[in-house]
Amino acid sequence: MSPRSYVVTGASTGIGQACVAQLVAAGAQVWASVRSDKDEAALGREHGDAVTVLRLDVTDAESVRAAGERVTAAGPLHGLVNNAGVALPAPLEHIPIEVFRRQLEVNLIGQLAVTQAMLPALRKAREQGMDARIVMIGSIGGRIAAPMLGAYHASKFGLVGLADTLRAELAPSGIRVILIEPGAIATPIWGRGADAAAEVMAGISPSALERYSAQIAGAQKGAARSAKRGLPPPRAAQLIIKALTVANPRPRYLIGSDAHTAAVVAQLPHRLRYRLTAARR
Ligand SMILES: NC(=O)c1ccc[n+]([C@@H]2O[C@H](COP(=O)([O-])OP(=O)(O)OC[C@H]3O[C@@H](n4cnc5c(N)ncnc54)[C@H](OP(=O)(O)O)[C@@H]3O)[C@@H](O)[C@H]2O)c1
Repeated sequence: MSPRSYVVTGASTGIGQACVAQLVAAGAQVWASVRSDKDEAALGREHGDAVTVLRLDVTDAESVRAAGERVTAAGPLHGLVNNAGVALPAPLEHIPIEVFRRQLEVNLIGQLAVTQAMLPALRKAREQGMDARIVMIGSIGGRIAAPMLGAYHASKFGLVGLADTLRAELAPSGIRVILIEPGAIATPIWGRGADAAAEVMAGISPSALERYSAQIAGAQKGAARSAKRGLPPPRAAQLIIKALTVANPRPRYLIGSDAHTAAVVAQLPHRLRYRLTAARR
């Protein structure tokens, strides 16, 4: 029997990179998406023929279309891991609209674009009586929101609705949709978010910066803590591989004790919950 085949987007670093490594170790054939020559070469060195690189920017319609055609032409696809994502922190009062739009383009619209492009290959697997699954990498930030990450939360809350509808629509086709909701994972996303925030803050007036200084400092401290104490990416990948392969996957998986705690807070009565999550200054 030929090996199972999976697409993982955002495979250069972090959770996506760890997913590729574990899928390869399990004997799968992996299509891994990256955006640079350097990351393409690194995947080749690490995994050789077990990985086929897709040069894909999830916001670039042409590259998404070409990737979908290539994967579909190669045969059935057993799973898609929609992992590519960014975090662009800034106060919603001042975030440039193009930055907010980019956040949604990458984390939400890009996930749908890639899903649409890969569905013909996933349907091929179903037509041959095999399993086909779509795994969306959401976040606990899709259940509970905190200051300075409004754009990110909008994308991840949006992804919950997207995944719920896809799950409902694809149920008759037997394609399962699974939402992963990690808490903090120690990946480059935190450092990249800090760089993106610094860029946005450089364009904000001194008086606005002063007004949000405590919240900005709180968010920076939280991000540094998450980058240092978050779970290692392979721990997240383990659960994602489970979602892709276990006989009867749950529709949603939380990752990490912080995510489980936040999920409880998200269930509190609204008044109490919003009091707990409001900025103090
Ligand atoms: N780390 C956490 O604590 C955490 C928690 C909850 C959810 N998540 C989610 O987990 C997913 C993976 O994040 P991570 O933590 O592993 O971060 P990461 O190490 O920064 O990886 C993000 C990946 O997404 C890729 N990417 C970014 N923009 C892209 C675009 N326009 N088109 C294609 N690929 C793009 C990056 O590629 P380049 O290297 O080319 O930029 C990189 O491979 C994200 O959806 C994130 O929201 C992470």
